[in-house]
Amino acid sequence: NAEQDGQIQEYCKNLLSILPKERWYGSAYLYKYKGFWLGPNQLPGLITLQSHFQAQDTDILLITTPKSGTTWLKALMFALANRKEYPINQNHPLLQQNPHALVPFMELSVSPEKLNPADHSYRCRQLFSSHSPLRLLPESVLSSGCKIVYLCRNIKDVCVSYWHFNKKLGTETSFEEFFDMFCKGVSLSGPVWDHALDYWKESLEKPEKILFLKYEGLKEKPGFHLKLLAEFIGCLISPDEERSGLVDEILGLCSFDNLRNLDVNKYGRGRTTGNEAYFRKGEVGDWKNYLTEEMAERLDQITAQKFHGYGLNL
Ligand code: A3P
Repeated sequence: NAEQDGQIQEYCKNLLSILPKERWYGSAYLYKYKGFWLGPNQLPGLITLQSHFQAQDTDILLITTPKSGTTWLKALMFALANRKEYPINQNHPLLQQNPHALVPFMELSVSPEKLNPADHSYRCRQLFSSHSPLRLLPESVLSSGCKIVYLCRNIKDVCVSYWHFNKKLGTETSFEEFFDMFCKGVSLSGPVWDHALDYWKESLEKPEKILFLKYEGLKEKPGFHLKLLAEFIGCLISPDEERSGLVDEILGLCSFDNLRNLDVNKYGRGRTTGNEAYFRKGEVGDWKNYLTEEMAERLDQITAQKFHGYGLNL
């Protein structure tokens, strides 16, 4: 109710005023909450979701750390999960809208009234996305049958991709400064290692609940992973669909070159930036062009330390 919503807003305002903070880009700060660095809209969004969001058993939540391939995963899952309603043809919504508009971040698109189950336009969505750390997800996401697809990426490539993205947002921070902050865990939803590790551990315990994917795996075997995604969310690609070329059609529609060259992604704008900022190179290993040997070693060491004994490598 309105009174409760007012209280949440007040609570978040107070919280932001006392949490440790670090300059992120421009005049924007990140705030450290329960071990993670969160944005000034993201934190109130997550807290609002915790008290308002009722996950349904049929929901699918795409979770990533930023710059891990979120845009690609959103496109693939939108095309896959909605293929009956939107066949892959020249009228497909992905040709007109950016993937972030079709699968919005739940913590950034919440206002309490939008989360009301009676609001059909929000609730009829089955696909949601989030950068939320595991420990800050609404309780109902974990207790319901809602499925989670988690995507992460080589940490060095994430770091390089992130700096370029922040430049588009207008940061004047040098790469060296950015790198240093990133190593200390300061990035949106960071430390990236802790974010990935929590989901990794949970996915090992509950493989039917969380599908844990890597960007590099998607790049290497996109068809295999698309079928895996279909199986995971319970909408198998039928032999007929396979024969008719559905897998290649979806992969083609969602490919980096195809999406990047669409007018909406060249000239359109999202909440904070032009859509083109989401499509840079789309390659594996671009870090080699930006990190010195010492930098690469420093990140590798942190990664090895954080993941030691857990069987995760990024
Ligand atoms: P680079 O900066 O290395 O090119 P996110 O979507 O999580 O913000 O991640 C952005 C990264 O994914 C960028 O990486 C971007 O180029 C890449 N990307 C975007 N769309 C893609 C696609 N369709 N296929 C592969 N990579 C894609």
